[in-house]
Amino acid sequence: MSCSPLEFQESLEVGQVDFVSPDEIKIQLNIDAPEDVSLSTGLPRVFPRINGYVLIHTEDGYVVGQIEWITIEKSPYPKRQGLGDFGLVDLPFPMRKMSVKPLGVLREKESSTYSFQRGVSSFPSVGDNVLLPTEKQLKAIIESGENRFVEIGSSPFAESAKIAVDPDKLFGRHLAVLGNTGSGKSCSVAGLIRWSLEAAKKNVGSENPNARFIILDPNGEYKKAFAEDHNVRYFSVNETEVENRLKVPLWFWNSNEWCAFAQASGKSQKPTLINTLRSVRSGIDAPIVDEKIEMRRYISTIITALKCEKNCGSPWGSFPKPKNFHDLLLKWNESFVVKETFSESQKKCIAEINSWVERKREERTSRPECRYPIFAYSHKDIDDILTILQNAYIEFGGVDLDVGELDADIPRPFSGESFLKCLSANAEILKTSEYISVMETRIKTLLSDVRMKSIADYDNLRLDDWLNNYIGGDSASNGTITIIDLSLVPAELIHILTAVIARMTFEALQRYRKKNEKCLPTVLVMEEAHTFVKRYTEDAENQSASEMCCKVFEKIAREGRKFGLGMVLSSQRPSELSPTVLSQCNTFLLHRISNDRDQELVMRLIPDNQKGLLRDLPSLPSQNAILLGWASELPMFVKMRYLPKNQRPQSDDPDFWNVWTRKDGRPIDWTAVANEWQGAKTGLVERS
Ligand SMILES: Nc1ncnc2c1ncn2[C@@H]1O[C@H](COP(=O)(O)OP(=O)(O)O)[C@@H](O)[C@H]1O
Ligand SMILES: [Mg+2]
Repeated sequence: MSCSPLEFQESLEVGQVDFVSPDEIKIQLNIDAPEDVSLSTGLPRVFPRINGYVLIHTEDGYVVGQIEWITIEKSPYPKRQGLGDFGLVDLPFPMRKMSVKPLGVLREKESSTYSFQRGVSSFPSVGDNVLLPTEKQLKAIIESGENRFVEIGSSPFAESAKIAVDPDKLFGRHLAVLGNTGSGKSCSVAGLIRWSLEAAKKNVGSENPNARFIILDPNGEYKKAFAEDHNVRYFSVNETEVENRLKVPLWFWNSNEWCAFAQASGKSQKPTLINTLRSVRSGIDAPIVDEKIEMRRYISTIITALKCEKNCGSPWGSFPKPKNFHDLLLKWNESFVVKETFSESQKKCIAEINSWVERKREERTSRPECRYPIFAYSHKDIDDILTILQNAYIEFGGVDLDVGELDADIPRPFSGESFLKCLSANAEILKTSEYISVMETRIKTLLSDVRMKSIADYDNLRLDDWLNNYIGGDSASNGTITIIDLSLVPAELIHILTAVIARMTFEALQRYRKKNEKCLPTVLVMEEAHTFVKRYTEDAENQSASEMCCKVFEKIAREGRKFGLGMVLSSQRPSELSPTVLSQCNTFLLHRISNDRDQELVMRLIPDNQKGLLRDLPSLPSQNAILLGWASELPMFVKMRYLPKNQRPQSDDPDFWNVWTRKDGRPIDWTAVANEWQGAKTGLVERS
């Protein structure tokens, strides 16, 4: 069908503007506007459809609107062209009306190409014509935006329009992939990684892209998705190949992680643990001969312990914290004893410490007018004694206190055995042995577990090798993807290990940028994020492992971007995720969400004028999603690209019917299972 440009333009017209407000435009449809598929434009065109686009002519170009709802209104008279037949009696007439949300402006450039821009400055007026977009215009709307290097899918409204994204935007400011189980999250995540790498590969030719994806995979699904890819490093527990065994040495863990692991309580266990880490990391297991050196170490130990108490707020916390703190001070003071070998000024320093503590003791005991003595210390008190201790430390030959403090977290190798030795030695010095015995037993039991040993007890591992394997080597020569399969990690360890891996990655990239003044773009992918980034209620005293793990991800969410670390979170329970992490995600790929609470939460994350789109969330078919946020010029419906079966993460639903009806065989040999089960355990015991 051919028609003149004017006729063509006319054939696209579907109605007139009836009502205008900044966030809603209502349109009265023409009687002859197509119901379903329109052939009047020369091409079959589907119209009108929820979430489809229409154009409204203004002097500035076309205002692009997205259809929110369509309805039929009983009008008392038919809409008529021309006047003059008022003599007729009109019957009520069904009129179609629709409401659209203004999105942006489409402007025609020369040679009939179009450019789309978000935001509307000049609104249409009542009576303006509403048009259907042509194929070209539709493509210009959907394909707007720059640097769209990675094709992720197509638009359900215009099959020929490819939806592609700017990878810098998609990964640079964290992406959250949310949706019910089976809605297609894992496929989308695996697809995004694969398509990004493919697009980059096309650009670099024969070489590998210089990319780094680290996938934390709690269900062990991703190995299958990249099985045919040679650029994958794969790590898991129970691997027979030692190289591929998941290793997260004890000595990587910082003091926070140790405290969570050992469930150390604030009062005396934490300071003891932190001191132990400091000494085991600086290799102080040798016997101390010199009384002065001994005193110096003792002072530095007490300074760390005191700072720790200060951070916990014990000196001024609620009863009995200050009382315990007071007792601790008195106990520490017992070991500040002047020795003959000390110089005069050193003796003076020790005496000063003694007299300060003595004074505080007196203040708290000689108050007959009070029935209950007040044990609390002020901030100034603590700062005073810290100054006295620091002066003493320098007097005894200490140099840089900050170095001493850092030591507790520096990843220097030690074995589980030397850690335990050091722990009891430090408890002796700090006089906390009786308080830490429960914790000590707990650590001993955990460290002697065989599974734990095979994951964490490696004092001969090199840090640079680990970074090379887990983050990736120079110019990605050893692969572009790291899959860390966490599926068989013991439950009591999973949060610690995940936190350590994520934090080590973050800190390594931080150091990389400091050294090279440029960041190393890396993507950290977190499947089933609600297990690791779970919202928590703050408890200053005891930090659980899952809270500690969540805090690591919160830090990455807040600061990762500066160091090139982008996060991809995938979760089916958005309402259980940490709000801090979610609010730092700038792009959302939303799959079907049918649960009320999760929908509400997602609603809160999205700007007001885009909320209408989310009404579709409960009815999205799998593989379909809504992309919105930083990486998408427009909130967009995407039909994700098709992933062949061998490239999908393994998460098939169990096929009851086929097995019941004997279409699929399932032979059983429990003996073999039992043997492997029991044999594997004894095998490991023998090995250790
Ligand atoms: N992009 C896609 N290509 C092909 N199949 C898909 C795609 N997305 C989803 N599917 C289908 O949906 C099923 C569930 O997807 P999956 O990613 O495992 O969901 P989720 O991770 O949300 O539980 C897959 O097994 C697959 O059959
Ligand atoms: Mg999944």
